[in-house]
Amino acid sequence: MELTQLGTSDLKVSRIALGTDQFGTRVDRAAAKKIIFSALDAGINFIDTAHIYGDGRSEELIGDAIASVRDKVILATKGGHPHTGGPSPKNLRLELETSLQRLKTDHIDLYQVHFIIGQYTPLEDILEVLRDMQTSGKVCCFGASNFYTWQLYRANDLCARSGQAGLVSIQSHYSLLERDIEAELIPYCEHTGVGLLPFYPLAGGLLANRYRRGIEPGSDTRAGQLDWADRFFRYYATERNFDLIDLLSAFAQKRGRSLAELSLAWLLTRPAVCSVIVGASKPEHVLVDSRACDWNMSNEELAEIGSILGDKNRYLRYPRRLWWEVR
Ligand SMILES: NC(=O)c1ccc[n+]([C@@H]2O[C@H](COP(=O)([O-])OP(=O)(O)OC[C@H]3O[C@@H](n4cnc5c(N)ncnc54)[C@H](OP(=O)(O)O)[C@@H]3O)[C@@H](O)[C@H]2O)c1
Repeated sequence: MELTQLGTSDLKVSRIALGTDQFGTRVDRAAAKKIIFSALDAGINFIDTAHIYGDGRSEELIGDAIASVRDKVILATKGGHPHTGGPSPKNLRLELETSLQRLKTDHIDLYQVHFIIGQYTPLEDILEVLRDMQTSGKVCCFGASNFYTWQLYRANDLCARSGQAGLVSIQSHYSLLERDIEAELIPYCEHTGVGLLPFYPLAGGLLANRYRRGIEPGSDTRAGQLDWADRFFRYYATERNFDLIDLLSAFAQKRGRSLAELSLAWLLTRPAVCSVIVGASKPEHVLVDSRACDWNMSNEELAEIGSILGDKNRYLRYPRRLWWEVR
C-alpha cells in the first residue's frame, strides 16, 4: 500500500489507517489481534486509538498485540476527551502516562488532543503541555481532533510565533454523507499542509451496505449492538441518504467494486486527505477496505459521483460560492 507523508510531519503513513474504537467492547482480544495483523499484512502501518476507547481496553489490546512489531507501526492515540475531564494540563499529562503504559511503549508517534470544544482550558496552557511532552521524548508529533478551523489556526499560529512545533494533522468526521468540513477546514488544511484524517468514512457501516432501507439494524451490526451507534445510524439513515447509497452502490457495482471501496477511494481523492481511518470489527473488513487504495478514480468517475451527490449546487458555501453563481 502507498505511504504518504502525515501532514507537516516527517512520518510516512499508509493511506488507510486502522480505527480501533470498537476494540475492548465489540471486538475482543483474539479478534483485535487478528484485525491488527490482517491490517499489517495488507500494508497498513497506521493505527489510531484513544485513551477513552473501550475505557482503556482498546489501548491495552493494541499494546499486547503489537509488542513484537512496535517499530513497524505508526501509533496514534488521543487524550483530553470531555467525558474523561477534557484537555486540562493535569488531565493531558496523566492520560499520556496511562496511554504509554497501556500501549507498552516509550513513545507515541502522533498524540492528538481529542476535543477542545466546550471546555475552558486556555489554548496556551494546552500547547505548553504538548511542548513538554515532546521535549521529554514521549511524543514525536501532535495532531488535533474535532477542532474548529479557527482553533486549529490559532493553535498553529501560537506555535509558529513561539518556535514550537505545530499540530501536523487533524481528525474530522468526513464521508460521502457528511461534508461540512469542505467549507472551511479543508481549504485551511490545503493552504497550510496540515494533514486531514477523516473518521467515520463509512458512516458507521451505512456506506458499506451494512444496513437496508426500512429494515431495523441486524443484531450483528454495531447499530444493533451499541446504543450510541444506533443513535448515529438513525441520524444518517434518511431517505435522501438511502437514495444516494442506492445510486452509489450501482455505480460501484458496475465497476466490480463495493460501496465501501468507493467511499474510501473517493475520500482519498479529496484535497488535504492523507490517510482515512476505517473501523473494522472483522479481519475481512480490513482486507476489503485496503483495496480502495488501488482504485485511482478518473476525472470522469469523479464527475459522475459529483453529479450523483448534486455537488454543483449543494456543497460550495459562501464565500467560495457567491450568490450570482447559484443556478
Ligand atoms: N477523533 C474522533 O473523535 C473520532 C470519532 C470517531 C471515530 N474515530 C476513529 O475513526 C475510526 C473509524 O470510525 P468508525 O469505525 O466509527 O466508523 P466507520 O469506519 O465509518 O465504520 C466502521 C464499520 O463499518 C463496517 N465495515 C467496515 N468495513 C466493512 C466492509 N468491508 N464490509 C462491510 N462492513 C464494513 C463495520 O460495521 P459492523 O461492525 O457493524 O460490521 C465497521 O464496524 C474509529 O475506529 C476511530 O479510530 C475518531
